Amino acid sequence: MKKKIVVLTGAGVSAESGVSTFRDSDGLWEQHKVEDVASIEGWYRNPALVLDFYNARRAQLATVKPNAAHRAIAELENEYDVIVVTQNVDNLHERAGSTRIIHLHGELTKVRPENCCNDRDGFSEEAVFDIGHDSISLGDLAPNGAQLRPHIVWFGEAVPKIESAIDAVEAADILLIVGTSLQVYPAAGLYAYAKAGIPIYIIDPKDVSIRDGRIHHIKDVATKGMEEFKNLIKSKN
Ligand code: OAD
Repeated sequence: MKKKIVVLTGAGVSAESGVSTFRDSDGLWEQHKVEDVASIEGWYRNPALVLDFYNARRAQLATVKPNAAHRAIAELENEYDVIVVTQNVDNLHERAGSTRIIHLHGELTKVRPENCCNDRDGFSEEAVFDIGHDSISLGDLAPNGAQLRPHIVWFGEAVPKIESAIDAVEAADILLIVGTSLQVYPAAGLYAYAKAGIPIYIIDPKDVSIRDGRIHHIKDVATKGMEEFKNLIKSKN
C-alpha cells in the first residue's frame, strides 16, 4: 500500500509563480484592508469593491503558471497516495497535475449565487459554476435570479471543507506544509489532527509559528524546499 501524504499549502507555494502572498511585507493585506475585500461584512457594505478585488486576482491568474514546487507536489502522486489541502484560491495545483485537491477557501475561477450555498446550506456544488478568468459585476445574475458572488470563503464565513481536510490529515502517514503563515483558523489548526508518530515537514523561508516536536523545518523557498523534501523522504522510506 502506498503511504499517504497530505500536503497543506498556502500562498507561499504560489509566490515563485508571481502570485502575491497576504502577510509578507509586499503582500496583499498591505495594499487592501482584509475586512473590506475578504469578509462577509465587506461584501454587504460594498460588493462592487469586493468584485473588483477578485476580478483583478482572477485576471492575474491568467498570466501566471505553476512553478517547480507545484509540479514536485503533483509528481509525489507517482509514489504516494497524495491529498493536497490548499488555502489558495488559484488553480496552480490543478494545472501542475495534482488530482486530489481540497480547496479550503474556495476557487477564484468559480462563482455562485449570493443567496445560496452559504454557511447555512453548506456548499451545494450544483449551484457553483466556472467562469474561467472573466469578470463579474453588480447586476450579473445567477440562473436563480440572485447576484453572483465569488466562490470564496470570506472571513466571518464557515469553512465547509474543513471536515474532509481533517479526515485526510488524520489518515496521513506524512504531513507536508508549504508556504503558509498558519495564522488563519481553522486551516492553521489542521496539523494538530496528525497521528502522534508521523513526521511533519514545513517548507517556509521564515521562522515557523508553531512548536511541535514532530516538525522538521526546511527553511527555504518552496521550489528548493521541495527538492530537499524529496531527498529527505527518499532516504527515510
Ligand atoms: P500568508 O501570506 O499569511 O503566508 C505566506 C507564507 O508563505 C509566509 O509564512 C511566508 O514566509 C511564506 N513564503 C513566502 N514566500 C515563499 C516562497 N517562495 N516559498 C515558500 N514559502 C514562502 O498566506 P497564507 O498562510 O496562505 O484567506 O494565508 C492564509 C489565508 O489568509 C489565505 O488563504 C487568505 C488569507 O487571508 C482568505 O482570504 C480567506
